[in-house]
Amino acid sequence: MKPSGKDAEVVLQGIVPSDTASPEATQALGRELGARLTSGAIVALYGDLGAGKTQLAKGICKGVGINPETVSSPTFTLINEYSGGDLSVYHIDAYRLKTLDEFLSLGYEDYFFGDGITLIEWPERIEGVLPPETIRLRLEHRGRDLRHIAIYDESEGS
Ligand SMILES: Nc1ncnc2c1ncn2[C@@H]1O[C@H](COP(=O)(O)OP(=O)(O)OP(=O)(O)O)[C@@H](O)[C@H]1O
Ligand SMILES: [Mg+2]
Repeated sequence: MKPSGKDAEVVLQGIVPSDTASPEATQALGRELGARLTSGAIVALYGDLGAGKTQLAKGICKGVGINPETVSSPTFTLINEYSGGDLSVYHIDAYRLKTLDEFLSLGYEDYFFGDGITLIEWPERIEGVLPPETIRLRLEHRGRDLRHIAIYDESEGS
């Protein structure tokens, strides 16, 4: 069974809120989260440029058993797919999306409703199609190498 919105809080318990002081620490946090994710999970990573979304995604992939060196922002391809772990991971970066139609034409249902895990950077671009069980996280700059990572508060909009 897929996790519900409420289950997201259970999955994130003891992981966030958290403050990290290095990219390695953010990756370590992601690794813990990745180890807890189950088939079909969708994780939306909110946060400004350089907030650490990709670093967290690398950690999540590590937690799923994927070599983090294969993980990079899919800025030009929109979606990267990583295999070799316990589950496939689909890594979406919606930053350069021009329209929602462009996203819909990619056959995203295969990712969202398949057996793998979907990670999304710049999810606000595709907010309307995110399923209710999406696990939402926000990363914030708190100084040079400091980042605050917490459950995204939907009431803040974006
Ligand atoms: N505590 C930290 N956590 C994560 N990254 C950090 C931290 N401190 C410094 N950094 C640096 O901040 C940058 C984060 O880059 P990253 O690509 O993960 O950001 P992003 O949120 O994915 O940005 P974009 O929107 O451009 O994709 C990296 O250069 C990383 O080394
Ligand atoms: Mg990125």
